[in-house]
Amino acid sequence: MQEQLNFLKIALSDHQIGAMTRSSKYVVRAVMRNLRGQLLRRVIEYGPGDGVITKEILKRMPRDGEMIVIETNPKFLKVLRKIEDPRLKIIEGTAQTASKELKSNYNANVNLVLSSIPFSILNRLDRKEIVSNTFEMLEESGKFIVFQYSPILLSLLKKYFNANNINTQFELRNIPPMFIMSAQK
Ligand SMILES: C[S@@+](CC[C@H](N)C(=O)[O-])C[C@H]1O[C@@H](n2cnc3c(N)ncnc32)[C@H](O)[C@@H]1O
Repeated sequence: MQEQLNFLKIALSDHQIGAMTRSSKYVVRAVMRNLRGQLLRRVIEYGPGDGVITKEILKRMPRDGEMIVIETNPKFLKVLRKIEDPRLKIIEGTAQTASKELKSNYNANVNLVLSSIPFSILNRLDRKEIVSNTFEMLEESGKFIVFQYSPILLSLLKKYFNANNINTQFELRNIPPMFIMSAQK
């Protein structure tokens, strides 16, 4: 409850957060269900917020794993820096810019990318850049999991990933309800 209130306070001061509440435990569980059998040696997350998903991933990662999170909001960055885990690397910046560099550094070498950034407030070119860079950084059979209130990214995901390898779920138990789209390379 306290964490939801802290999230709300931060969200009220930044419209780019695109939500008033952190992901519910039901969304977290639904995202985790998509990870069964997935290697988690190198994971990237766009828009970790206060780290509600980040912490769950870290619990499931091997000791020599690496998790890179990209966040724009300074208050969330402060919260994230309190997570004491040597496997976690925090980048201050946008997914659009960071994904270009990550693509060059980790070409086809990332097991999983997660994103909950509000794609609806990004322009079409930025959306395309992020999906394209993400596709390139993923290893064969790596996954891109997008969770957000709108299925706006679905058509773009279908341009890069095989439609048979995309699965969409809708979780009502979140404010507001959330689409969870999982695309496997
Ligand atoms: C809807 S919140 C989700 C937070 C958290 N992942 C969760 O599930 O509760 C979206 C997050 O993305 C961040 N964000 C928004 N635009 C971004 C961008 N272009 N690049 C990186 N992070 C962004 C916001 O600051 C916010 O922390």
